[in-house]
Amino acid sequence: MFKVCEEGYLAHVYYGKKVCDDDLGYLLRFDESPYTPATNDRDRASFMDSTPFEYPCFGLGDYRESAMMIMDAQGMSTCDLRYVSHKIYDGKPALEGLPATFATEKSGAQTLEVTMRDEHAHIEATLIYTAFDKLDVITRSVRFKNYGDSPVKLTRALSCCVDFDTHEFDMITLNGSWARERAVERCRLHHAKQLVDSCKGESSHQNNPFVALCEHKADEDSGEVFAFNFVYSGNFYAQAEVTQHKKTRFVMGINPLDFQWLLEKDETFTAPEVVMVHSDEGLGKMSRTFHDLYRENLIRGEYKDKRRPILINNWEATYFNFNTEKLIDIAREASKLGIEMLVMDDGWFGHRDSDNSSLGDWFVYEKKIDGGLKHLVDEVNKLGMKFGIWFEPEMISPDSELYKAHPEWAIQVKGRPLTLCREQYVLDYSQKEVRDYVYSMMRNILDSANIEYIKWDMNRQLTEVGSNFLPKERQRELWHRYVLGVYDLMNRLTTDYPHILLENCSGGGARFDPGMLYYSPQIWCSDDTDAIERLKIQHGTSMCYPCSAMGAHVSDCPNHTVGRNTPFKTRGHVAMVGTFGYELDITKIPQEDRDAVPGQIEEFKKYNALVRTGDHYRIGNMFEDNTWDAWMFVSKDKGEALFEFVQVMARPNERSRRIKLKGLEPEAYYYEESEPDKLISGSALMNAGINVAKIWNGDGLYGDYASKILHYIKK
Ligand code: GLA
Repeated sequence: MFKVCEEGYLAHVYYGKKVCDDDLGYLLRFDESPYTPATNDRDRASFMDSTPFEYPCFGLGDYRESAMMIMDAQGMSTCDLRYVSHKIYDGKPALEGLPATFATEKSGAQTLEVTMRDEHAHIEATLIYTAFDKLDVITRSVRFKNYGDSPVKLTRALSCCVDFDTHEFDMITLNGSWARERAVERCRLHHAKQLVDSCKGESSHQNNPFVALCEHKADEDSGEVFAFNFVYSGNFYAQAEVTQHKKTRFVMGINPLDFQWLLEKDETFTAPEVVMVHSDEGLGKMSRTFHDLYRENLIRGEYKDKRRPILINNWEATYFNFNTEKLIDIAREASKLGIEMLVMDDGWFGHRDSDNSSLGDWFVYEKKIDGGLKHLVDEVNKLGMKFGIWFEPEMISPDSELYKAHPEWAIQVKGRPLTLCREQYVLDYSQKEVRDYVYSMMRNILDSANIEYIKWDMNRQLTEVGSNFLPKERQRELWHRYVLGVYDLMNRLTTDYPHILLENCSGGGARFDPGMLYYSPQIWCSDDTDAIERLKIQHGTSMCYPCSAMGAHVSDCPNHTVGRNTPFKTRGHVAMVGTFGYELDITKIPQEDRDAVPGQIEEFKKYNALVRTGDHYRIGNMFEDNTWDAWMFVSKDKGEALFEFVQVMARPNERSRRIKLKGLEPEAYYYEESEPDKLISGSALMNAGINVAKIWNGDGLYGDYASKILHYIKK
C-alpha cells in the first residue's frame, strides 16, 4: 500500500499480511523529520531521508540506498520522480525479452502500473506490480522511458525497493562455491548496509539472487518472512540497509557496478522482475509459495507437469574418454535395468579430448563418434532409450575453427590480453550475428538425429567485458545485453524444438535462478553428487526453487568430489528428491548396485508425482545439526505423504529419534504402507511424532549414511 503525498512523492505505507482496508495513510509518520517539503526553504532533505519511499532516486537528500540513478544530458545525477498517473488491470504483462512469471486462468492476477516522471531530465519510470490471486506473491518490475529530446543514461535501474518500518530482521541468503552451492546463512541485520551480489556475468556459485528478511523468532513453521528472488541470470544486487531511524530499506535488481544504459529519445528499458513472497508461517510456507508459483506460473513447456525420463549421463562415467562403442555399451546395460535416456556429455564435438579445445565447433568429432551421430542415436533408440546431448553454446576455445575464423567474436577489450578460464573465452552474445551462427550449428546437430534432451552448460565467468561491436557509449550495456542474448537463443531453441527437454547447468549450479527456470524446467543442482553433501545443497536450493527442478543423479563411489562412500540406496533416496538419474559407468559398478537399479527406479516412479506436485516440508536441518536429516512431501489433498530420513552420523547409545511429521490433516487417520492395520491420526503424527529407530548396516556396524523412507496413506 502506498500514498501519493505532498508534491507527488510516492510514499510506501504498508507491506505485510493481507488487511481489509483501502487506506492506511495514517501510518505515515513524519515524526523523525517534522518538515514537509512544501517549499524549498523548509527542510526537504530531512523529509527525503526519512520518508519510506516506493522507488527512491538519487540526489535529493535521501541518503539511503537509491533504486535509480541517471546521468542526464548535462552529466548530472540528480533525479526526482513524481507521481503522474496509475492504472489497474486484470492479468499480467510479459516483459519484453526477459523471463518473467505469468498469470494463468487457474492462478489469476491483477496488475498495477504507476507512472512517475522527472520533469527535468525527461525520464519516466513506470512501476509495475502484479498480485497473484491465490498466492501471497507480488512481482515487481520497472519500465523506463526517455520522453525528452536529449539522451539520458540510466546508471542504476533496480527493480524493487521496500522500506520496512523496523530493523528487527534476520537476513537469510544462499551462498557457497563450486560443488557446495546455496548453503543457507542467517544473520541478524545491523546498522549500515549488508548485501549479496554477483558481478561475474551469471547469478553465480557464490551468491544466489535470493534474500529473505524474517522476524528473529521465525523458523520453518512460524513467524513472518519477506522473501525476494530475482528473475534474472546475470549480475545482481540485493541489499538491506538499516537506517539511522532503525528502519530497513531493501533493494534488489541488476548490479549497478559497471552498468549503464543509454536511452535516446523515446527509447525504453525494462528492469527484470523481482518476486516478493510473504509468509506468516515461517520459512516452510515461504518455500511452498515459491514452489507453487514457479511450478504453475514460471516453468513452461511439455515437461512442465510431466515426469522426466530417467537418464544416464556419461560425464562421471567416462569424462572425455569415450567413443560410440562405449556409449552403446552403457546404453545397452542401462536399458536392461529400466533407464530411459542416454545423455552424451562434453567431448563429442570438434576435436575435444580435454577441456582445452573446440568450444564453438559444434560439429561431430568423427574419430570419437565413429559411424556418426545419427548412427549412435539410432542404436540408442533401438534399445528403447531416448538420446540427449551436451552443449556449451556461449563459449569459444582459442583452439577452435570458430576462433580462427572469428577472434573478434570473443568478449574482449581490444589491445588487452584475454583472460582464460577453463581454457576458454566467452562469445559476444550481444551480437545477433554471433548468436545466429552458433544456433545454425546447433540446429544442424539437432536436425541430424533424434535428439530429445539438451544440457546447456556455461562454465566460466566474464572478464575484460568489452564488445568489438558496441559503440563507446554503450560498452557498459554489454553485461546485460549478454544475458538478453542468452535469453534470446534459449527462447528460439525452446520455440523451435518444443519436444526437447532442456536442462540448464553452469559448472554445476552457478545459474540456478528463476530466469533459467523460465526456459528449462530443470537445472543441474551441483557438480557435487555425493549424497551427503547433496542434503545441504538440495535443502538450500529448496528455499525458493521447487524439487521438480533440481537435477539430481545417483553417482558412483567413492564419490568423485569428496571421496565418500555411501550406500547405493541412500544415493537413490537423495536423488529421488530431484529429477533423478544416473551418472556412473553402469557396466562397471558393483553387481550388487546394478541389481538394485530396477527396484530403485520402481521406487522413484512410485513417488515422483508426489515429489513433483506435492508440498515440500523440511524437517531436519544439516546446517544446524549435521548428524541427521529428514523431509517430507505431502500431496495437495493430504491423502498421501512421503517421509524420508537419512542417518548421517550414527552415534553410540542413541537408538532412536522422535520426529514430528508435518503437513498432514490433523483429524484424518493415516497408516504407514507396511503396517496397514495401525492407524494413527494426523494430529498424533504431527504433535507427538514417530520414533525412527537407528538404522544399522547389515553387518551389524553403525549405519552411517543409511536412509529410510516411510509412505503414509490416509484411511
Ligand atoms: C560442467 C558440468 C558438468 C559437466 C562438465 C563438462 O562442469 O557441471 O556436469 O557437464 O561441465 O565439461
